[in-house]
Amino acid sequence: MSRSPARSRFLDLEPALESFAQSVIAGLSRPRKSLDSAFFYDGAGSRLFERITALPDYYPTRTEIGILDRAGAEIATVLGPGVQLVELGSGSSVKVRLLLDRLADPAGYVGIDISREHLRQACAALAADHPGLDVLALCADYMQEVPVPPPADGLPRRRIGFFPGSTIGNLEPEAAAAFLARWRRTLLEGGREPGGMLVGVDLKKDPALLLAAYNDPTGVTAAFNRNILARINRELGGTFDPHAFAHRAIYCAERGRIEMHLVSGRDQIAMAAGRRFAFAAGESIHTENSCKYTVPEFQALALRAGYRPERVWTDADRLFSVHWLSLR
Ligand code: TRP
Repeated sequence: MSRSPARSRFLDLEPALESFAQSVIAGLSRPRKSLDSAFFYDGAGSRLFERITALPDYYPTRTEIGILDRAGAEIATVLGPGVQLVELGSGSSVKVRLLLDRLADPAGYVGIDISREHLRQACAALAADHPGLDVLALCADYMQEVPVPPPADGLPRRRIGFFPGSTIGNLEPEAAAAFLARWRRTLLEGGREPGGMLVGVDLKKDPALLLAAYNDPTGVTAAFNRNILARINRELGGTFDPHAFAHRAIYCAERGRIEMHLVSGRDQIAMAAGRRFAFAAGESIHTENSCKYTVPEFQALALRAGYRPERVWTDADRLFSVHWLSLR
């Protein structure tokens, strides 16, 4: 019998350019200017983020990969056989391979990402390495409601969300709970048997380690942060001088979060999406939050969102955690 060829379907629900323009105008019109971090990830941004994940001080990626690698067999048992795995923010799909290689007879993989070409390439490579696995690349903003189709055979399956990278920390706690509650409905639509969500969450730790992770001396992190201004120039007719803004990451202990800012080096004016925005010297654009949790803090949040926190895996240094939240 011949093996079925590697297959990968593609579904494009990429947000329209208009929504980028609207979001930029809204963010830069606030008294305290901000930009939505979802827009970091165009092609250039995705490549810069890949470089961040390889930086010596950026511990989250390699620590989470270590946890998934060591606990992989156990995680696969907990997730169960024949599942449909739905990854939110699949990026280069490195982490999910550690699960797919160990899951019993997975029924399908759906990779959701806002970075279209990056997603297509990653899913094509994944399909090539897993012949017979139904792979769907779904270009969409998973922070909004995303309609997730069943596997190609049309049969509903126990649906498992996989949300690694501590991207959940980029939402403030109340928004994170609302996000999980929204995905809970989508996961329950999967089939009669309720699945759950596997989430990577960065842990609270010595602020010096946090600050080092977000302030690398080589400038890759700064380039990543500034890329959002370069993207406004490319896509929205912007006139930003990205180098006239400095990358700044600070730790707010009270809220347990790293805050990313772009700080204007001088008084300046920039056009974006047909509007004019003025920046005073020292004025900042808040580009992202990265909230950190203790294990009990995150479990309490998951409970509020309607999940049962069942298992948690961490590394020996307790830098990072991977939570299994079931919907049973
Ligand atoms: N989601 C990543 C995080 O919170 C994003 C990130 C890493 C980031 N380094 C950055 C965002 C530097 C802006 C600037 O860890």
